[in-house]
Amino acid sequence: MNVPLIELEAVSFTYPDGPTAVIDVTLRIEPGETVVIIGQNGSGKSTLVRHLNGLLRPGSGRVLLDGHDIHSVHVAALAARVGLAFQNPDRQLFAGRVASEVGFGPRNLGVRGAELEARVAAALEDVGLAAEAETNPYDLGLSRRKLLALASVLAMRTPVLVLDEPTTGQDARGVARVRAVVASAAQEGRTVIAISHDMRFAAECFGRVVVMRAGKVALDGSPAAIFAQAAWPELRAAYLEPPLPAVVGAGLGLGSTPTAAALVAALPGPAGEGRGRPPGRAGNE
Ligand SMILES: Nc1ncnc2c1ncn2[C@@H]1O[C@H](COP(=O)(O)OP(=O)(O)O)[C@@H](O)[C@H]1O
Ligand SMILES: [Mg+2]
Repeated sequence: MNVPLIELEAVSFTYPDGPTAVIDVTLRIEPGETVVIIGQNGSGKSTLVRHLNGLLRPGSGRVLLDGHDIHSVHVAALAARVGLAFQNPDRQLFAGRVASEVGFGPRNLGVRGAELEARVAAALEDVGLAAEAETNPYDLGLSRRKLLALASVLAMRTPVLVLDEPTTGQDARGVARVRAVVASAAQEGRTVIAISHDMRFAAECFGRVVVMRAGKVALDGSPAAIFAQAAWPELRAAYLEPPLPAVVGAGLGLGSTPTAAALVAALPGPAGEGRGRPPGRAGNE
């Protein structure tokens, strides 16, 4: 699997009769990076990621994969490299059967027979829909249709995964499945780019956080940097709240603790962790 370098060069996009949703965004994403994009509704996150698979073409600027402007990459070749799970699954789903929905993408890539069946089964298993292979997608609730849209993208086994608000509307089990999907893709060395409003998910599951505000990139860095106290004014200007462990860690003077694990590790104690933890609480919660 050749995991590409992704570059956005001064990308701007204006909807016909609509706003300029993305303004002069330059980003470079190395192969195998895990990046979460956060920002208030309407800040341009979805518009930006729709450029990564050619769904939208930049009004100005360029999008490059491994140094090649994707404008000159065939749509089918692009689909084999970058998989995008939509924010609204109903814009993505169309088949009358869950298994056909998930098989559609790999089938289009020329996958057939046992390999196709194995991919469909594995993707449904990953999102917890293995028992629903014969179900009509519209008999699933919205949160499960969203997991189905995710499975359809997973089955294509693209080296780049783009997930637009994968955890929105999911219960704890759904969130756990999405987290596992991100972790295993990262483990395999694939690039994962997700949009989220869940600061805990952002802080715990990604190596890099990009903050969007009014169509522009306002901040870009590690969770430790983006959720550190120094960045809070900028976060709050983007209507974002730092994750709770970051607030507690700052209150205790422990520095940047974007995750509960980092907070616990920073607490004073003989082993460098664990002291001061309230009784009965798990160390990683
Ligand atoms: N299809 C569209 N046509 C016109 N305007 C749109 C369309 N999609 C989004 N917008 C507008 O573009 C801006 C950015 O939207 P979007 O990229 O969806 O933001 P986000 O994903 O951060 O919520 C918003 O002002 C939104 O109303
Ligand atoms: Mg969006």
